[in-house]
Amino acid sequence: MAYSDLDRPPLDGAAIRHALVGPGTWWRDVVVTARTTSTNADLAALAHDGAPEGTLVTTDHQTAGRGRLDRRWESPAAAAITLSVLVRPDLVPDARWPWLPLLVGVAVVEAVHEVAGVEAALKWPNDVVVGDRKLAGILLERVQTPTGAAAVIGVGLNVTMRESERPVPQATSLALEGGRTTDRSVVLRAFARTFEPLYRAWAGSEGDASTGLLESYVRRCSTLGQEVEVSLPAGSRVQGSAVAIDSTGRLVVDVDGHQQALSAGDITHLRPRT
Ligand code: BTN
Repeated sequence: MAYSDLDRPPLDGAAIRHALVGPGTWWRDVVVTARTTSTNADLAALAHDGAPEGTLVTTDHQTAGRGRLDRRWESPAAAAITLSVLVRPDLVPDARWPWLPLLVGVAVVEAVHEVAGVEAALKWPNDVVVGDRKLAGILLERVQTPTGAAAVIGVGLNVTMRESERPVPQATSLALEGGRTTDRSVVLRAFARTFEPLYRAWAGSEGDASTGLLESYVRRCSTLGQEVEVSLPAGSRVQGSAVAIDSTGRLVVDVDGHQQALSAGDITHLRPRT
């Protein structure tokens, strides 16, 4: 296929499928499109039609990506990895599902370290950052399907985005961080390989993060130890120090000696206190 930007070749769907799907692997199907509105929306529709856990949807050009807190996720054509993964963690109690996007964050951080040499961290709950610049965002959407509850977890990871293309000044990309590869296919496969054992271990322990995920997350979380200011949906703000992550993935903030556990839904904005 001809393409205009030599730095941004299209994904090779057959090669990715061949690398991921096969006997003994967790991945069941890989769907690659040239263009779509939202991979999360596409995968939710497939989930309704019975797609199995382990289905991955990705596209070269996502035109109406959904972000957290009803924001949008924008990236130029073929400049980012925009993918969604379907999981059906039937044995994991609902209270532990909030670990899913955190687990995906760990997989993204490990993958970009391994193949691109970029040292990223997790800003709680699941922004992947380099310093204070955002490299990747993660969006979990729970869907009810005829065969039960499922989760679609979307990842938007900026790969070759240039300075002039940043949607917001704090955005960054593997290219801007000097990553040693900007091959989306290589990074996507590294993510998939890293995600698989993390997810299998977590789901296999019925979502008990104390068996390893909590420690992996804490090691990569740059929010812990910081003085933070948290905006709550009602408009009020709390200030305190981020001291821990609890057993359900909430951020524990020490506010004047009182510990408050905050879930992602409790927070509209989290920033280091100035
Ligand atoms: C955030 O706000 O930080 C989360 C952004 C998540 C964007 C990804 S891109 C692939 C997937 N499909 C979507 O529509 N959104 C997610």
